[in-house]
Amino acid sequence: MPVKMTVNGKPVAIEATPDTPLLWALRDILHLHGTKYGCGIGMCGACTVHLNGQAVRSCQTTIAEAAGKRITTIEGLSPDGSHPVQVAWREVDVPQCGYCQAGQIMSAASLLAKTPRPTEQQILDAMDGNLCRCGTYVRIHEAVKKAATMTPEPRKSTSQVKKG
Ligand code: FES
Ligand code: FES
Repeated sequence: MPVKMTVNGKPVAIEATPDTPLLWALRDILHLHGTKYGCGIGMCGACTVHLNGQAVRSCQTTIAEAAGKRITTIEGLSPDGSHPVQVAWREVDVPQCGYCQAGQIMSAASLLAKTPRPTEQQILDAMDGNLCRCGTYVRIHEAVKKAATMTPEPRKSTSQVKKG
């Protein structure tokens, strides 16, 4: 039985055993090569994608776990590279070799979706599991802060709005 899920807004049916890592389904079956294989053991973050909006390690997520869910990869983060994190990444000129960067961007985007105005510590905590062999950490941190300035404030629900 194919395993069905939605990848970057499109329904897909993956013909593979249920314990196949999502990373390999994305790269080898769906040919989405933006998501990278780094360590394969959940330690580097190069393979980070969003599963129902949450950053997950796709090397540690089986397609059975992803069944019926929404997956977003770097290719689907925005149609034209206009996501605030992508814009900030370009403005700060973050990448060096680039290998870790899709994972870094997906982690940052997940953070800002949940916490549009993160503190320094929240940025450090959210990005802690994404390694960069080129040591671009200072620029990554700066770019996340810049992206936060471009991310709209969350709308207050009516229960949060004070009545005067
Ligand atoms: S390849 Fe998945 S965490 Fe390193
Ligand atoms: S930019 Fe080279 S590993 Fe991060």
